[in-house]
Parts: sequence; C-alpha cells; structure tokens
Amino acid sequence: MCGIVGYVGGKEALPVLIDGLKNLEYRGYDSSGVCLIPSAGGKLDIRKEQGKIKFLDELIAKDPLPKAHVGIAHTRWATHGAPCRKNSHPHPNADHTIAVVHNGIIENYQILKATLIQKGYKFLSETDTEVIVHLVSEYFEGDIVKAVRRAIKDLEGAFAIGVVSSDDPGILVAARVGSPLIVGIGKGENYIASDVPAIIKYTRNVIYLKDGEMAVLRRDSVDVTTFAGKKVSAKIDKVTFHIDAAQKQGYPHFMLKEIHEQPDVLAKMLKARLKAGRVELDGLGLSDAALKGMNRIKIVACGTAYHAGLVGRYIIEELARIPVEVDVSSEFRYRTLLVDKKTLVIAVSQSGETADTLAAIREAKAKGARIVSICNVIGSSLARESDGVLYTHAGPEIGVASTKAYTAQLMMFYILALKLAEVHKGIDPKSRGLLIKDLLEIPALYRDILKVHSRISSVAKDFSHFGCFLYLGRNINYPTALEGALKLKEISYIPAEGYAAGEMKHGPIALIDEYRAVVCIAPQSDIYEKMISNIQEILSRKGKVIVIATEGDQAIIGHDTHVISVPRTHKLLTPLLAVLPLQFLAYYIAVNRGCDVDQPRNLAKSVTVE
Ligand code: AGP
Repeated sequence: MCGIVGYVGGKEALPVLIDGLKNLEYRGYDSSGVCLIPSAGGKLDIRKEQGKIKFLDELIAKDPLPKAHVGIAHTRWATHGAPCRKNSHPHPNADHTIAVVHNGIIENYQILKATLIQKGYKFLSETDTEVIVHLVSEYFEGDIVKAVRRAIKDLEGAFAIGVVSSDDPGILVAARVGSPLIVGIGKGENYIASDVPAIIKYTRNVIYLKDGEMAVLRRDSVDVTTFAGKKVSAKIDKVTFHIDAAQKQGYPHFMLKEIHEQPDVLAKMLKARLKAGRVELDGLGLSDAALKGMNRIKIVACGTAYHAGLVGRYIIEELARIPVEVDVSSEFRYRTLLVDKKTLVIAVSQSGETADTLAAIREAKAKGARIVSICNVIGSSLARESDGVLYTHAGPEIGVASTKAYTAQLMMFYILALKLAEVHKGIDPKSRGLLIKDLLEIPALYRDILKVHSRISSVAKDFSHFGCFLYLGRNINYPTALEGALKLKEISYIPAEGYAAGEMKHGPIALIDEYRAVVCIAPQSDIYEKMISNIQEILSRKGKVIVIATEGDQAIIGHDTHVISVPRTHKLLTPLLAVLPLQFLAYYIAVNRGCDVDQPRNLAKSVTVE
C-alpha cells in the first residue's frame, strides 16, 4: 500500500524516480507525485497528479521540473482523504523547504494536527501524512536529520517515510516502523524504496531496514541508526531474482504472465524440497523433535493466502493427523488466543508485509507459540519476525490478483505436511510414495492445462455477461471455490460467492435462476456423486453451470453444462489443478469486460495497514 522511491546520486533523479514508481504501481495507483531538490539551488519543486503514474508523466511533460540529483516520489493508495492532487504525496511544508513521502497510517494524527494548527501551521490536505512534514518543520533548526529524529518521536502508528530538505540538499532521510522500506546501495548513488522492483535496475545490494531504524543517505554513504541515534551495522543483502522477473515479458498483463509461470515455480519448489523422496525444509527452524512436540496447528493469513491455509488444513489433517485451525488474521488477532508452546502457528503471506498477519503472529508469539511463515518476499517483516520461514521463491508477483503465490503456498503445504507426517507417523510409506509420485507430475500437468486454455477463454466468452456467480466445492475443493470467487470479484467486479456445496440448500439455492452462473468444482473423488447432485439441483432451477471436471469424465457430459477438464491426479492434489482454470476464467472474463486486470479498482497488492 503506497509506494515510495527516493534517490541521491549523480544521475538525473527524475527518470530514476518515475521509473521506480512505475515498478511500484502495484502497491497503489490512485495518485502519485515527485519532489526534487533543484541542483541549481532554491526551494523544492513538486508535481502531483490524480490517477496513474502516466498522468503524472503527462503533467511533468507540460510543466517540466528542473535538473536535480536528489528527490523523493510516491504512488498512493488512499487511506485518509480522497484520491486527488491535494492529498497526493509528497507533502511540503509551508515554504517548500521540506517534503515528506509516507506509507502507513499515523494513528495520532488528529491530536498532532490540532496542536500544530494552534501553533499556526496551515494544512492543505486531508491526509494523516501532512502532520509529519509540519512536525519536521517545527523541529528544524538547521539539521534535517535531527529534525526527523525528533519528529518521529511524536508519531504513533505505522510509517515508512522519505524526507528531503532544500536546506540540506545532499541528504535523503528515511525511517520505518511497521511499513516496509529498503535502502539500495549503489556506486556514488543510493536509493530508498518500498520494494526491490523499484531499484533492481540500478542495484542488487539492499539493506532491509528494521522497525525503529533510520537511514541517512548521501551520494557516497548510508548511515543506519536506531531512532535514538545508536549506530547500527546493517547487513547488506544481495537480491537474487532476475530483473526480467518484474517485467511483463511480452504478456499483455502481469496476471497472465504469472499464471503461465506456475509450472516452473512448482517444479523449482519440488526440486529444492523433495530429494529422493526426502523432504528438505531448510528454514523451518524446528528440529524433528520440536516438530513432534507440536500438538496443534493454527494457520493465519488473509485473502488468497487464507484460502491456501484452508487447503493446508485438509492436507495436514489427512497426512499428519494433527488438528488444524485456520483463521483470517484480522479475526485471530482480536480473539482470546488459546495458544501455547506446543502450538505451531503457520502464517501465510505472499508479501510478508500484511499488517493483520504481522499483528496476529506477534500476539501468538507473545503467548509462547512457535511461528513458521510461508512467505514469498525475501527479507520481509514476516520472514524476519518468524521463528522459521519457508520461502516459496515464486519470484515477484506484481498482478494484484494472486496466482502463482497461491499455488506455491499450496505446494509448500504439501511439502510441509509430508514432513509433519514423517515425524508424527501419519501416513504409511506406500501411500506417501504414491502421493510424492503424483506431486512430482503436477508441473507437467500444469503445462498440459496451459496448452488448452483457449477452451477456458471460449467458456469465459459465454459467461462474461453474467451479473452474479456462485462457486461451489466440497471438502478440499471448498477453498478452491472460495479462491475462484475471490479471483473473479477482484478483477471483474462481478459479485461472486464461494460456498461449500453441501451448504447450498441452506440458503444460496434461493439465488438460482437462469441469470445465475454457477461454477462447480467436481473432480473425481469420493464425494464426486454429491457434487453431481448439486449440479442437477442447479440445472433443474435453470442455473447456468460450468463444471471443473476430471479428464475423461463421461458422466458429466450427459448434463447440460460447460465442462472444463483438468488431468486426473491424486484426490488430495486436485486443488492444485482445479484452481488453474478458475484463474484463467476470472482473467478472461475481466478482459472481456474491459477491466484493469493488474490494477483493479480500490485494491493494492500488499495491505500494510489494518
Ligand atoms: C489476492 O488475490 C489478493 N489480492 C489478496 O487477497 C491477498 O492475498 C491478501 O491481501 C494477502 O496478501 P499477502 O499474501 O501478501 O499477505
């Protein structure tokens, strides 16, 4: 949520900042802005615009900015105040000598604002952020670093900030609590950014700032300290992913590219984690004995990651026979937490920066639970705060609708469940062998489905005009129904509900008529017949049905439905295959309806505020 970029160095700052913003646009895209310290001297120069970054680009083309080698920029996801020019960042002080970009929420901004207004400060926006710049201004006595250090003492809430001052023109100050911020180390130049894609073109050497740390960047130096001013010897990490990984590579949308990347992501995970039938879980941070001592598992996550957790529950309970509960993080964090040192809490998150999930693990940790996270973004807050981290290594996921991160999370659950089954003596060796054999075939089966996705696009064409969708699944594919519905509503804005098919007669059946589209996930399994009964009940009420069925399913052909087939696999693995057509279906319907697939309205990729 909100993207920050900052630069100090020998290059022209503007193109670096705009390019960085474009690579962070997935974090928020309702308005953007840039602030430069003119190299020729004078006050700060700022341009801001409502809407996507291309509109800021157009504004700057009409009203050019001066040459500059230091600057900050921001792409916004509105929290306080409507998305419009006056609320967009950077926010300057009254005489345009100090400016701030911010990601997060200042929770005590109203009190601070009232005090500042009493002191004569004039507020031009409705944002919480503007208090930061006036506070820095209030404390400024010729040293911007000291002024920022003093100002942040007054702030409560979450923030990652970048601050520049025309009175200290060679300096960029950054600080973080709760919201992500990295420092990129270059040669004769340095950067700040909310995420790696913004700066990977220029440097792979990054410092992941920790909560409570401040960085002072000059052309030739970066000094990291605590807020109190104590020097920190910050570790410089090397970013390993390829620069192309954050580009569309010829695909019309990131989402489509990321859907196609799934077989490779899954194959890579299997290669790294399953060696000659043995599970390797580097990063787990728990010995076999400690794992054996865990008698309960709680999974916490949000959105798509929560759906992965729901599938995870079925897998772990089936394979390892350990009781599992799954909660959305925002509920978990406010419940009476019944966890102890024998509870393993598994937090699932693509970004590793989701505010509710972070809060949930902090609560659980304080009560003595062991925390293992399944996470995609290396060095993220979640990864750092967990006792163990299982990285999915799916590469950057830029499309707001999660696809490859989800299937990678599922894969990690299969692998983790095999490990748990090993130590808890869950399944017998023969069943384990059969499951592993089928698991290893999954990437190839994905490639088979990718080859025939034109069939899904033609079904999507027939269903793009429907105004309401119901997704039904049972057992391990109930979460698949939830995930299919979430994908559709996120990117096409069509109301879509996921339901456990067995619940249909308890309410949702009232919705069915000829104007309703119902997607039924019905792969071959011991509950297949139950799904067929549901399908018949929908058809007899004139509902229009899409069925995700197993290849070669003859019985389904006799019904008046649109069938999308997926290859046959182990019944526990069907969620991995069934979700792929649902991703395509959502994608094609959204495209047919002219929606902005990668940047759907109101959403942002990582939800770093509560
Ligand atoms: C998925 O398509 C979503 N955009 C969203 O539900 C997401 O999965 C959720 O916000 C959790 O994010 P995380 O995995 O980064 O924690």
